[in-house]
Parts: sequence; structure tokens; C-alpha cells
Amino acid sequence: MTDVTSPAPDAAIRCADLVRIFTADGVEVQALQGLNLRVDSGELVAIVGASGSGKSTLLGILSGLDKPTAGSVSVAGRDLLTLGNRERVDYRRHTVGFVWQQTSRNLLGYLTARENLALAMSVARTGDRDRRAAELLELLEVAHCADRRPTEMSGGEQQRVAIAVALANEPRVLLADEPTGELDEATSAEVLEAMRGVNRELGVTTLIVTHDPTVSEHVARTVQIRDGRTATEVLRRTGVNEHGDEHMVAEEFAVLDRVGRLQLPQEYLTTLGMRDRVRLALEQDHVGVWPHEDRRESDGDDS
Ligand SMILES: Nc1ncnc2c1ncn2[C@@H]1O[C@H](COP(=O)(O)OP(=O)(O)OP(=O)(O)O)[C@@H](O)[C@H]1O
Ligand SMILES: [Mg+2]
Repeated sequence: MTDVTSPAPDAAIRCADLVRIFTADGVEVQALQGLNLRVDSGELVAIVGASGSGKSTLLGILSGLDKPTAGSVSVAGRDLLTLGNRERVDYRRHTVGFVWQQTSRNLLGYLTARENLALAMSVARTGDRDRRAAELLELLEVAHCADRRPTEMSGGEQQRVAIAVALANEPRVLLADEPTGELDEATSAEVLEAMRGVNRELGVTTLIVTHDPTVSEHVARTVQIRDGRTATEVLRRTGVNEHGDEHMVAEEFAVLDRVGRLQLPQEYLTTLGMRDRVRLALEQDHVGVWPHEDRRESDGDDS
């Protein structure tokens, strides 16, 4: 159960009405269509959604690599729209860390795990490098890989070293785009658990993008993106039944945006023949939604 008495933590990530339009050969693709998302400091959130729904586009913006067409976005209190070039470099070095799907994109192949970590820290001028590298490799349970190059590690080990490198400069936010995309099921579960471990141990706000529907078994909050917007969320919590036994409860919610818009599931719309407009009624503890019976057709009025 959420503790309602504790003060609301700061938002680590705040996206409001985020739009990203790509133009390729004169054709416009609306990858993000007014996306709203708030992630609190220290939270671990999974982002799921069909291929092409806008997940990587969102991560590209949050990582400071790409800029939105419209809307606002801030990460760890920094407004990403107003960052100058120098500030952007600083943001990418110190505020966010990222892990990509391709194991080869995360680590330099001619350096060992320890050297990959040392390089990331020397570029950002982080101090106490040897101690920090050893601690991170230990935390991710890849201390035995310290002196190995990526080709001498398994896919799962490479991704866990990549997480260590992403955390080298103590970022506030850790972003991962399909970090388990190239791994088998058992190794994926290990890498997801490793991310959950660093989130818990270091308190780093973590966002994991994935196709993997089983990811929601590892995290307390899963946000689904559909057509460039956040559509539904699944929240998991520990519940206690009448016998006092603990069990996991997963509940699905529709996302309500800042101005009160929500998306009804397609299947509800078809079942009740809802389109164009609905009737709303405020009841004591809920809101009723009814299809609007269109009288104009039956009255023969086609105006
Ligand atoms: N640089 C680009 N130029 C043109 N269109 C793009 C570009 N990047 C993404 N898109 C388009 O934007 C939409 C969203 O793409 P995005 O990569 O964010 O999807 P995704 O949810 O990450 O998909 P996947 O699960 O396949 O990785 C897609 O229709 C894609 O073709
Ligand atoms: Mg993607």
C-alpha cells in the first residue's frame, strides 16, 4: 500500500504534451503525439508498447540526443528544451546514464570492463575511479569480468557491465532501451533483476523500455505507450488476503492526463457502439459514460 502520509517526492522526469514529428522524404511521422509522463525520484518504471509506438523516440529525447517538436520535458530539474550545447554535453555525462539493446554499442570492444568504466569516468572527470569501478562491478555481480574484454563475456555479463558503465558518473536517471532485447529469457530476467537491484541500492530513477510483456513481473509500475501517448498503466503491489498471506496484486489503470483526457479501450467502444460523443454523469464515487444515441438518423434529419 502507498503511504499517503509521506510528502510527494520530486518528479525526476516530467513530460507534458510531448510531440515529435519526423519528416522523411516529405512524409510526416508523428512518433509522439502529446505524451504525458511523470516519474518520481527513485522510481523504477517499465515502458512497454508495440513496435513503432514511440518508445525509443521518447528515450532519445530523455537522453538528450534528440529534441521534441513541441511540448515540454524536464529531467532532474533541467529543462531539456533550453539546454545550450555545452550544457547538453554536461547533461549527457552527469545527469543521465544509458544502456542500449545492442551489447556492442554499450562497451568499447578493445577495452576491458574496468577500462570501459575508467574511460567513462575520466571523460566526466569523476574522482576515486578505481574504488568506484570495483564497487559497481561488485554491485552488478560482474567483478570476475573486470579484466575481460566484451568478447570474453556472455551477453548478460556484457549488459551488466554496461549498466555499471552507465552508472559510473552517478547519474540521477538511468535509461535503458531494450537492454534485454538480444538475450534469452533466463538471462533477461537476470539483467532486469540487476537493474532492480541498482535502483534499490543506489536510488537511481530507472526507466526501462522493453517489448517483453513479462517485465511487469519485475517492476511496480509499467506504462504502456500506444500511438505516441501513454495509454494504460499496470501497478503492482503486495496485498494481504483474509488469511494474512502476502500475494502480488496487479491492477490496470487508464492514464488520465493533466487536463482530464483519457482513452477508452477500443474493445469498450466497439462493444457499446460508442463514437463521436458520449454522455457523462458525475456520480457520488465514479463517473458514468454512456453512448450517445444518435436520434438524427431515425428522425430522417440528415442536416
Ligand atoms: N529518425 C527517424 N526518421 C523518421 N521516422 C522515424 C525516425 N525515428 C523513428 N521514426 C518513426 O517514428 C515511429 C516511432 O518509432 P520508435 O523508434 O520510437 O518506436 P519504438 O516504439 O521504439 O519501436 P520498436 O519497439 O520497434 O523499437 C515509427 O513509426 C518510426 O518509423
Ligand atoms: Mg525502439
